[in-house]
Amino acid sequence: MARRRCVAQPKITRVTLATLPTPLEAGGKLPSGANLWIKRDDLTGLGVGGNKARKLEFLCGEALDNNATCLITVGAAQSNHCRMTAAAGARLNLPTHLVLSGVKPKQLEGNQLLSSMFGAQLHHTGLDASDWSNLELARAELTTDLTKSGHRPHSIPIGGSTGVGALGYATAFDEIISQCNTQNFVVDSIVFTTSSGGTHAGLIAGLIRTRANNPQKVLPKVIGIGVAKGVALNPSSVAELANETLTLLGETVRANQDDVLIDANYMGGDYAVPTQAAADATIWAAHRGAWVLDPVYSAKGFSGLLGRDAKGEFSADSNVIFIHTGGLPSLFISH
Ligand SMILES: Cc1ncc(COP(=O)(O)O)c(C=O)c1O
Repeated sequence: MARRRCVAQPKITRVTLATLPTPLEAGGKLPSGANLWIKRDDLTGLGVGGNKARKLEFLCGEALDNNATCLITVGAAQSNHCRMTAAAGARLNLPTHLVLSGVKPKQLEGNQLLSSMFGAQLHHTGLDASDWSNLELARAELTTDLTKSGHRPHSIPIGGSTGVGALGYATAFDEIISQCNTQNFVVDSIVFTTSSGGTHAGLIAGLIRTRANNPQKVLPKVIGIGVAKGVALNPSSVAELANETLTLLGETVRANQDDVLIDANYMGGDYAVPTQAAADATIWAAHRGAWVLDPVYSAKGFSGLLGRDAKGEFSADSNVIFIHTGGLPSLFISH
C-alpha cells in the first residue's frame, strides 16, 4: 500500500517510491585536482533505479489526489522515464500505458522488457525519438480515448517534467546540501545530464529557495549537460518550470534564464547518437569507481564533467558532484 505524506505545502502529496537518501560517494581526484563526488541517484531503487523515481513520488501523489484509475506517459523507445512510470504503476496498482517512439520490436529488450514485466501496456507509434511534439500529440490522443471509455487517466508529459515532477529535484537539492554538511565539505559545482529539463528545473528551484532563505550561504554552480536538442536550446523553459515549482513550494522568489546553464557541447550529433567522449567517460567511471554509465544520458553528462575539468573549470581541491541519474537498462540492448 502506498504511503502518502505532505511536503512543505498542504496541497503537495508525495508517495514513497524511492529509497532515499541516495548515497553520496567520494570519487577521488579529477585530473585538475578537484574532488569528485558521485550522487548515486542510479540507486533510487524503483524498478532498477534512476532520477525519475524522485519526480514520480510527486507525480503519483498528484495522480492519487485526482483519484486516477490509470497512468499514461510518453518517451523514446528506450525511455527510462517510461520504465520507471511502469514500475510506479505496479507499486500503486495503477494500470500504466506507455506511448513510445519506434515500431514494436520482434523481441522486447532493455527498458521495454522491464516495462512489460511491470505490467505496462506499450503503444508503439512508429515516430522518431526526437519528434517530441508528435509523441506528445499521441499521448494526448490516448488520454482522450481512455477518458472517453470511462477511465480517469493521469497523463504525464515527456520525462515527467512538470512543476510537480520537478519538486523531486528541489527536495534532492536540499538532500545534497545536507549530505555535504554531514560529510564536512562545501560543494562548488553540481553536474548532471539534462534532457526534458525537470531534473534541472528542480535543482534550480532548490537553489533559488535556499539562496533566498540563507543569503550568506555559499551555493554551488548548477551545470546541466544537454543530451537532447529541445532543452539544450531552451534555458528559459527550464527557468519557467523552476518557477512553477517555486510557486508550489509557496516561494515568491523567482528564477530567470541566467540561472540556467546548459552545456550542449557533449551531445554529439543528436539525442542517443554515440560520442567518443561518452565512450571514454564510461571507461573512466567504470575503472575509477565501478560506476556504470549509459550511452544516451549519464555517459554524455559525465563526459561533460570531464571535458569542463580538462578546460580548467574546476580548481584544485574544489568539490564537484556528479549526479548519476541512472540509465542502466539501455546498456543491455543489441543494436
Ligand atoms: C538516465 C537519465 N538521465 C538523465 C535524464 C534527464 O532528466 P530530465 O528529463 O529530467 O532532464 C533522463 C531522462 O530521461 C534519464 O533517463
